[in-house]
Amino acid sequence: MRRKLAAGNWKMNGTAEALAEVAALMQSHPEPSVDLLLCPPATLLARASEAAEGHALAIGGQDCHCAASGAHTGDISAAMLLDAGASYVILGHSERRQDHFETSAIVHDKAVAAQAAGLIAVICIGETLAQREAGDTLTVLADQLAGSLPEGCTADNTVVAYEPVWAIGTGLTATVDQIGEVHANLRAALVDRFAQGGDMRILYGGSVKAGNAAEIFGIDDVDGALVGGASLKASDFSPIVTALENA
Ligand code: 13P
Repeated sequence: MRRKLAAGNWKMNGTAEALAEVAALMQSHPEPSVDLLLCPPATLLARASEAAEGHALAIGGQDCHCAASGAHTGDISAAMLLDAGASYVILGHSERRQDHFETSAIVHDKAVAAQAAGLIAVICIGETLAQREAGDTLTVLADQLAGSLPEGCTADNTVVAYEPVWAIGTGLTATVDQIGEVHANLRAALVDRFAQGGDMRILYGGSVKAGNAAEIFGIDDVDGALVGGASLKASDFSPIVTALENA
């Protein structure tokens, strides 16, 4: 039985006043029946973790370096995220693959480091619009999945997030059929490769909001969502969490 996960990715948004949203989210969901995760920017990690102490809300980073320490100006190690109170880290988000030229091989090495440190890696994959229109979606995703997930993935240390690049921040959501096809494919690939592939959670991400969450959560093999814009305000994120609890 896979535990559902509602995850918010704040991306490069939020300063101290945004901690009020963390508090409001916890207040709306004192005892969530699904796993609840917020990934604020690195500057807020420690404060968000402190705010979430004693609550089921988990806090995660948005990236980590593959090395344990060293001369990597501006980077953050997995151990540092853990030290700041994180228990998850998003890896290989399409914005990092695009803006920072992260390849699946780099994401793989980051996942090894994250898992070794004791973090749960939320490993993102997704096709561009050009790739979908060329009919390459399933092969692109299969390659990203195979290349990004290291051998040691288990249901406890790995979450996969399918985020079609063309659906991120655009208001365009993949259709039920598109999501269903991809998630079934990813499930088969995970089962094929990993002993616990059937128990690993697969999230959908890309313009998830209150109005479409219930429909998306009704799709087979959708174990939750990775939410960007609609996770910034508790009033937007909370109905998505409730939809997942009711799914
Ligand atoms: P939006 O929900 O803003 O489309 O972002 C999705 C995303 O990239 C989450 O990681």
